[in-house]
Amino acid sequence: MKVLITDPISDEGIKILKAEPGVQVDVETKLTKEQLIEKIKDYDALIIRSETQVTKEVIDAAQHLKIIGRAGVGIDNVDVPAATEKGIIVANAPEGNTIAACEHTLAMMFAMSRNIPQANASLKGGKWERSKFMGVEVMGKTLGVIGLGRIGGEVTKRARCMGMEVLAYDPFTTPERAKDLGARLTTLDEIYEKADYITVHTPLIPSTRHMISTPQFEKMKKGVRIINCARGGIIDEAALLEALKSGKVAGAALDVFEKEPPVGSPLLELPNVIVTPHLGASTKEAQISVATIIAEQVINAFKGLPVTTA
Ligand code: NAD
Ligand code: MLT
Repeated sequence: MKVLITDPISDEGIKILKAEPGVQVDVETKLTKEQLIEKIKDYDALIIRSETQVTKEVIDAAQHLKIIGRAGVGIDNVDVPAATEKGIIVANAPEGNTIAACEHTLAMMFAMSRNIPQANASLKGGKWERSKFMGVEVMGKTLGVIGLGRIGGEVTKRARCMGMEVLAYDPFTTPERAKDLGARLTTLDEIYEKADYITVHTPLIPSTRHMISTPQFEKMKKGVRIINCARGGIIDEAALLEALKSGKVAGAALDVFEKEPPVGSPLLELPNVIVTPHLGASTKEAQISVATIIAEQVINAFKGLPVTTA
């Protein structure tokens, strides 16, 4: 059985695969689309993170592929219907990076509130600008959580400990679950009307693509701060740019972008936008966890054992 790994994953996962008799593992990152289409023909399993685009063309070129394993949560870079049609399993490691993504969301919220990236750059540039970087506190503020799943739930619990009120929107969860987490389940409109901070934690699917755009920004409180550590495309970047420029949105903290890397994005020019290069899941712990889970999923698929599909 041959496994192709096309995005960097932790060595722990690779070791598990290599220890399995009869399994050959090849790690080939930074493949072009054409190279992947050529290579995939020989492989029984493909392991990816968010960079590799597993399009219908790639799936059509596969001749022996049994499983596509995503070492993480989001499968928006995989054409799942095309894989399913061909009988290829799409598996992920949904619980492996929940805490990493939650902690990154909170880190971004604090960094934005206290201007930490900007102040760090200023001081390292030889300046001492104390009054320029006046911040705001999160205690007593209202946080809107859109998508109260694994990550949204963990963010909620921690935000409550920090003295925030949490309003949540998720059409697939119950008021009881929200209450247990410390949030009140409500409408998007109430979140837009009342939230001082809004953080999104939904998958990128047709119903969430650009779910926050100009009409939604118009409904928000002036001075709202926006966090996206879920997926680029949930928030309409062009609309966000205008809302930031007009002052409606006081700041944005973005880990993910409609195009990654976001080369040439005007959002990068704004002083009140802080960014990280899709680092939400990038902790040692999370990467060991997702790599281990996905290696086990692939081995299960080879052995005909149950695999948790995405
Ligand atoms: P999850 O499936 O546990 O939670 C997603 C929640 O979104 C679910 O509760 C679902 O009911 C809800 N939802 C679906 N459609 C919705 C809609 N239209 N409006 C509001 N809520 C909706 O997933 P998760 O593990 O919490 O991950 C959330 C997101 O974070 C995913 O997009 C994932 O890819 C992303 N993620 C990013 C990073 C990163 O590196 N930045 C790391 C991990 C996960
Ligand atoms: C995910 O959906 O799990 C994230 O994009 C994390 C990653 O970078 O793999």
